Amino acid sequence: MKPIVTVTNIFPQVALDKLTSECDLKTNESGVFPTKEKLRQTVSESDAVITYLSDKIDRDIIDQATKLKIIANYGAGFNNIDVTYASQKGIWVTNTPNVLHETTADLTWAMILGAARRIVPADRYTREGKFRGWGAKIFLGVDVYGKTLGIIGCGEIGRSVARRAMGFNMRILYHQRNRLPDKEAKILNAEFTPLNQLLRESDFITLHVPLTDETEYMVGNEEIELMKNTAYLIHTARGKVIDDYALVAALREGRLAGAALDVYEDEPEIVEGMAELNNLMLLPHIGSASFETRDRMALLVADNVLDVLAGKTPRSLVPSYPK
Ligand code: DGY
Repeated sequence: MKPIVTVTNIFPQVALDKLTSECDLKTNESGVFPTKEKLRQTVSESDAVITYLSDKIDRDIIDQATKLKIIANYGAGFNNIDVTYASQKGIWVTNTPNVLHETTADLTWAMILGAARRIVPADRYTREGKFRGWGAKIFLGVDVYGKTLGIIGCGEIGRSVARRAMGFNMRILYHQRNRLPDKEAKILNAEFTPLNQLLRESDFITLHVPLTDETEYMVGNEEIELMKNTAYLIHTARGKVIDDYALVAALREGRLAGAALDVYEDEPEIVEGMAELNNLMLLPHIGSASFETRDRMALLVADNVLDVLAGKTPRSLVPSYPK
């Protein structure tokens, strides 16, 4: 009998094709997110499960495993999985690093430029037939060129964002737990800066940290108070890094010029008041959403599963997996 590999939701064909001859593949083409009950059943009958970021794989779900060898997450983030518990049960947990940083950096830049130049409200205005001809004061935004960019979290994505900023002749500040090697910081022209200084001096602040106990709500009222009221906050990391209520209040009261969010504290819910704010861009978690990158991610997921089915250690274990 072939091993059972279950994909919890829609998955690129190229990766399904790669897996199909090696296993009994169970797919879900409905686009409907599995219920907790369905996840329990899936985990109990599969040798490998391919999960979405929205599938919460907690102790209760992991306890259903009878022969599960791997939870292969279709994403770089893996805060949806209790990695410690899975590892105690001898189940591998993998993610998709190194394949989506450039795409997420592209989106970050679309958000920086979109927020600065008010692209979304300007598009809406034009569609609504309100454009009556060139106006000296319609949709004035701010320049990005030559401004200061603050990058919180300078891993793969943060560094890709920094590389793009060089073309905009920006001053680049970064903050993270460990400094970049001097050589790399020099190439990126990025200055290591204490968090409070970065918040005070940046015109655009972009977040690229994983969600951990340390980063949960790292941007709340106090931090927003330190920012310039002309600053913009861009967020493509994980929702709970920002206190969304504090952000909405600051945008409403003009204590921040604008923000652009791709992720939310209580995803997929958005906080009351967000939808009414014109200085807030709202996106549906599309950081890695290009055809090419989603295929690359899915192929890496498939490789991880195939590694394990062949009795090998999977190639992209999550970094927190106990060694
Ligand atoms: C990830 O892979 O963690 C991203 O958030 C998906 O866009």
